[in-house]
Amino acid sequence: MSSAASPDQVGGQTPTPFKPRIFSGIQPSGGLTLGNYLGALKRFVEKQDEGIETIYCMVDMHAITTWQDPVKLRQQTREGAAAFIAAGIDPKRSILFNQSQVGAHAELGWIFNCVARMGWMSRMTQWKDKTAGKNAEAESLGLFAYPSLMAADILLYHATMVPVGEDQKQHLELCRDIAIKFNHDYKVDFFPVVEPLIEGVATRVMSLRDGTKKMSKSDPSDQSRINLTDDADTIAAKIRKAKTDSLPLPETAAELKDRPEARNLVNIYAALAGHSLDQVIRDFAGAQFGTFKPALADLAVAKLSPITHEMNRLMADPGEIDRILGDGADRADAIARPILDQVYDITGMIRSRPG
Ligand code: TYM
Repeated sequence: MSSAASPDQVGGQTPTPFKPRIFSGIQPSGGLTLGNYLGALKRFVEKQDEGIETIYCMVDMHAITTWQDPVKLRQQTREGAAAFIAAGIDPKRSILFNQSQVGAHAELGWIFNCVARMGWMSRMTQWKDKTAGKNAEAESLGLFAYPSLMAADILLYHATMVPVGEDQKQHLELCRDIAIKFNHDYKVDFFPVVEPLIEGVATRVMSLRDGTKKMSKSDPSDQSRINLTDDADTIAAKIRKAKTDSLPLPETAAELKDRPEARNLVNIYAALAGHSLDQVIRDFAGAQFGTFKPALADLAVAKLSPITHEMNRLMADPGEIDRILGDGADRADAIARPILDQVYDITGMIRSRPG
């Protein structure tokens, strides 16, 4: 790829490689689930604790691509922020904010709408899943263009790594395609080609009612998921009622291959305990679900109850949550604005008004 102007040459400075920076986001389109916790939040905390610069966002602008009641959206955005903090995100060490407070996301999202192609968007499996059996023509234009706003979220910070669950892989490939096309079209080396971080045993936590379906906040059945707001009794009851087969747990992880429900529960156990799948299988080989499920319920309650408790404490002071989000937005904006200014420069927009 030619690089007539490198990122830092645009501002007249010496070129530097992109520094490691993590960005990730969660939609406040419902309460957070165990899937969000194990696939995303828990790993966000690990990345923060590894000392990498971390930027985390409640993506409220993404949430409104499908209808959201305004009162609930505000509540869910605060609740999501409370979940981040309760899970271990320190808003002094990480930047934590909600997307709509940093207008640069929408501005870069528009520019990427002009870089991305209609064909790319129509091949997104999430778009296809969300419109399956429905009249796609009646969906919002925002839902269709959703991945280009997601690419803007990431590239606005020149983020190099993005921890996500398995379901976001294709969106991150599209983010890479947008970065490559932008760099190619404008003959610059401006945007990094990001690296998806899809790691660990819980990159795809499945529904408790159907081991072939992802656990999701939008599933109509509340029994299909564990919510981070569920109390101990509810968590234990949902695990007790979780669908399983009639066989005992096997001797090897490979034997879980065609047992999606059993595999899911073992994966959840491993992720919560911080053990490998092989270790859990070794510990429970030959056990019936009558033994395994109560052990899993105890573990889930032990790990999740302190988070739920802390979320409830934080939610009692919404003003403090808003203050934290506002402070995070100021710090996010300070990184994003100069990068966006360079994008306007590269794309030929006149910016003659002072500051
Ligand atoms: P969202 O809000 O659907 O999910 C947030 C994060 O949780 C992960 N996740 C899961 N991981 C494992 N098992 C599950 N059952 C499960 N359900 C959800 C998701 O993979 C994700 O990491 N498009 C994104 C939000 C977004 C974003 C971004 C993410 C917007 N801009 C920029 C990263 C970077 C989404 O809808 O995630």
